[in-house]
Amino acid sequence: MCGIIGYIGKKEALPIIVEGLKRLEYRGYDSAGIVIIDETNTPYIVKTKGKIKDLEEKLNFKKIQGTFGVGHTRWATHGEPSDANAHPHFDCKKEIFVVHNGIIENYSRLKEQLQKEGHRFITETDTEVLPHLIEKYFKGNLEEAVRLALKKVIGAYAIAVICLKDPEKIVFARQSSPLIVGLGKGENFIASDVPAILGYTKKVIYLDDGEMGVITKDDFQIFNLDNQVVSKKSHYVQWSLSQAEKGGFDHFMLKEIMEEPGAIQNAIRGRIMLEEGMVKFGGLENVIDKLKNIDRLIITAMGTALLAGRVGEYMIEEYAQIPVEIENASEFRYKKPMLRKNDVLLAISQSGETADTLFATKEVKRKGVLTLGVINVVGSSIAREVDAGVYNHAGPEIGVAATKSFVSQLTILALLTVFLGRQKEMSLVMGRRILEELLKIPDFVKQILAKRDKIKELAEKYQNYQNFLFLGRKYNYPIAQEGALKLKEITYIHAEGYPAGEMKHGPIAMIDKNFPSVVIAPKDSVYEKMISNIQEIKARKGKIIAITTEGNIEMGQLADDVIYIPKTLEMLTPILSVVPLQLFAYYIAVLKGLDPDKPRNLAKSVTVE
Ligand code: G6P
Repeated sequence: MCGIIGYIGKKEALPIIVEGLKRLEYRGYDSAGIVIIDETNTPYIVKTKGKIKDLEEKLNFKKIQGTFGVGHTRWATHGEPSDANAHPHFDCKKEIFVVHNGIIENYSRLKEQLQKEGHRFITETDTEVLPHLIEKYFKGNLEEAVRLALKKVIGAYAIAVICLKDPEKIVFARQSSPLIVGLGKGENFIASDVPAILGYTKKVIYLDDGEMGVITKDDFQIFNLDNQVVSKKSHYVQWSLSQAEKGGFDHFMLKEIMEEPGAIQNAIRGRIMLEEGMVKFGGLENVIDKLKNIDRLIITAMGTALLAGRVGEYMIEEYAQIPVEIENASEFRYKKPMLRKNDVLLAISQSGETADTLFATKEVKRKGVLTLGVINVVGSSIAREVDAGVYNHAGPEIGVAATKSFVSQLTILALLTVFLGRQKEMSLVMGRRILEELLKIPDFVKQILAKRDKIKELAEKYQNYQNFLFLGRKYNYPIAQEGALKLKEITYIHAEGYPAGEMKHGPIAMIDKNFPSVVIAPKDSVYEKMISNIQEIKARKGKIIAITTEGNIEMGQLADDVIYIPKTLEMLTPILSVVPLQLFAYYIAVLKGLDPDKPRNLAKSVTVE
């Protein structure tokens, strides 16, 4: 939610900041703004409602020269998207500029107090209290003013601050919202996320909560809110710039779907010991003894990651014989959970920054439970919070709707099933069988992707329906939910995902010739039950798009349209069945002229609750 970039160095700051904002746009895109300070210490502020391309249009008429500045792309929380509410926000004298990601929870009390003291506010945002608070404490040193101001603030923030009276530096701070420092030669950066600065440096420092600091063009310093210097290690980022670019595809979403075979391979690489029917997770080695005594696994996550967890529940309970509970993190964090000694928590998150997942993890960790993570973004908040974990290595995912991270999460959950199962009752033969089959999955996904034109045709045929029902059972029940989620989030078509058996308890009332159903019915242990559900829909004249196993001729006679997926183990079918559903949603969005990478009202990384 909201993207921040700051640059200080010898180059022109504007193109670097605008490019960084484009790479951060997945974090929010309802308004944007920049401030650049030129060599005469004059600030140039441009703010606009809309996307970065709208900001660029506004900038086209201006020649802004200056070698330091900050930029922001917004996802509105307080105050509608408008030019005025766009960041940066400033103080009464227009000398202190702040960009902010997060929510200042006590802003109304602070604002009231500041107004009484004579400060003038011109926006509806919570952020605007920050420049005024900093103004109040400023006595010549910006770091000190920011530090004193933040001591009064309750909430979540990543901020970057510039001040004309203490120029040539950017002051920043982090509390519950991500922020990194990028270190270059004669130039330094701050950003919400790595892709924003990948074109300039791969050397980064990940800030922790309660830390703040300052960058100049040649130096940096990090300290805490009590003014104690914190020494931090820098890390070398493995991602390449091309991974964070569209590479010839129209949209990141399609590029990322096409990258799925590689993402699955990366999740598997170096982790399978086929002979022994075992899995090796470097990141879990330190906790292996504790995992041998696990009594219950609690999986917590949000959105698509939560649905991956639901598939994991079926996998782990069936094959590793460990009870699994799925907890929506936004609910779990406020629950009074009954935790036991040998419970283990598993947080799943692509970004590693989802606020609810992070806080649920912190809360459970505080209660003494072992916490694990399946995380894609290295060095992210959840990755650093958990006791141990597994990285996805899926590369950057920029499209707001999760795709390749989902299949990667499913792959890791399958590996985890073998990892945990082999420490319990799972036989060598079963371990090998799952792993051998898993090794074939990247090719199977390639085969589905090769037939994407067929899914495009279906998208053309079905694009004008207003409602869809998605049905599945067992392993494919969460996939029905994910198919519906993908469709609604990027096409704005109403869609519901249900366990097929639940259909008769309500949803069937909606079925008629204008209400198609997408039925996920591979040839598995619940196939016959799915056929009964298909018959029930047909009897009510409902149209059916079915996903089933290659060679299943019967389905051709039952369904209006059929998508075939290769035959695999039942527990691995979700990794295949979800791919056509992602493509179906993608093509409908494109046909409707919508931008699937930036669906309305959504953001990739939800860092507020
Ligand atoms: C947002 C994104 C989803 C994602 C969810 C959880 O809602 O739009 O695509 O599944 O957050 O994100 P995480 O980074 O924790 O996996």
